[in-house]
Amino acid sequence: MTRTCLSIVLAAGEGTRMRSSRAKVLHEVAHRPLVLHAVDAAIRAGTSQTAVVVGRGAESVERRLGEIEPSPITVSQTERLGTAHAALAARDAIAHGYDDLLILFGDTPLVRPDTLLAARREIAAGVSVCVVGFRSDRPAGYGRLIMEGSELVAIREEKDASSEERRIEWCNGGVMALDGRRALALLERIGNANAKGEFYLTDIVAVARGEGLSVRMVTADEEDVLGVNTRAELARVEAIWQARRREEVMLSGVTLVAPETVFLAADTRLEPDVTVEPNVVFGPGVTVRSGAVVHAFSHLEGATVGEGATVGPFARLRPGADLQSKAKVGNFVEIKSTRVGAGAKVSHLTYLGDAEVGAGANIGAGTITCNYDGYNKYRTEIGANAFVGSNSSLVAPVVIGEGAYVGSGSVVTENVPADALAIGRARQVVKEGRGREINERTAARKAGGTV
Ligand code: UD1
Ligand code: CA
Repeated sequence: MTRTCLSIVLAAGEGTRMRSSRAKVLHEVAHRPLVLHAVDAAIRAGTSQTAVVVGRGAESVERRLGEIEPSPITVSQTERLGTAHAALAARDAIAHGYDDLLILFGDTPLVRPDTLLAARREIAAGVSVCVVGFRSDRPAGYGRLIMEGSELVAIREEKDASSEERRIEWCNGGVMALDGRRALALLERIGNANAKGEFYLTDIVAVARGEGLSVRMVTADEEDVLGVNTRAELARVEAIWQARRREEVMLSGVTLVAPETVFLAADTRLEPDVTVEPNVVFGPGVTVRSGAVVHAFSHLEGATVGEGATVGPFARLRPGADLQSKAKVGNFVEIKSTRVGAGAKVSHLTYLGDAEVGAGANIGAGTITCNYDGYNKYRTEIGANAFVGSNSSLVAPVVIGEGAYVGSGSVVTENVPADALAIGRARQVVKEGRGREINERTAARKAGGTV
């Protein structure tokens, strides 16, 4: 029988050291708010329900929580009276009665689902409180684990610790699992007689021990429980997240030629046999299908790259770029809200916005869609196998039919029927000998004569 689980994510902290107008837990790692990373870990650890405790910026936090499935409920902590007090903001959910209760911090995004599962297994085995501990050679600032032999008897916060206790290298990672049936009673027994006058969640260890209940610890790496308090820590967590995900991506069958230079978003989907060259940045919402190659120095966001398609080097795919199979988008090309049909080529120096390019079409170097008149956006449709000559301006709304041919340098303002030729440029004039005349006159002027 599977056990039910409630996860409470504490996210009502002030986060003043971020020096930001934004709530701390909305700062992003891999383009996903910190708090969503914690919620995601809980979901992967099999939680049945998640409650996020919000304070400052509650509305914007709630909005972002809607991005994840299944969406967590939110409860608010109006006064910031400590971590145990924050957990009790979810009192109704706890009272609902779950087998396991997980408590996570919204500013601790690298916690591994495996660690949460290990803690849940302890609860399933009859333990009342399971703490996630880690060992650090720089433990300052963390709560210390007070052991008697192999037994965890208490957690002492830095401010309340004696100098001897401060030398302890075993620390509290913050994440905890509790027996869901006993959690409420234990949390309610926590007092606030300490240096900060706060209700410390960590006191639950001593409270449980005092009632003869069993307490256990599972371990994690310090990296897994890093909390974000400053922008510098945010960058450190980002770096660790990226390193981990690159590894996973490569193990899933993707070639990253220089992994340390590729930046992924939390929702980036790269299928097996995709190759990504150095210095590529994935913003949110990108899918790259099997066999596609993303060449160096490309930036992709909100885009789909079809099977065997190629992108870059130096390409920019913006939201709504949809490359069908074997399409080619080359260097210095920007694509926005445009579908590029199968096998179509947009090889150099082009901007396509709000367009549809048919299969097998060829878009010459320097072509741009003039999709915006300063007020509205208009669409450009280019039929299958059409040929658009270099340096053409396609003034939208405009349709270029299948198999049509646009002479290079054209400004196309009217629709071009299928298989037609359109030339929209001034006719060339040739004057014999005039080139030499101009050169001679200019040379003489430079030499000081007046001609
Ligand atoms: C906490 C632990 C400490 C542990 C460390 C690990 C306690 C008392 N201390 O300390 O033992 O080593 O994490 O990083 O639990 N929060 C609220 N409401 C509050 C207070 C806190 O929502 O009233 C939230 C914060 O937003 C944050 C989390 O709880 O996400 C932890 O609070 P924080 O003040 O950062 O605790 P630490 O001092 O880091
Ligand atoms: Ca913290």
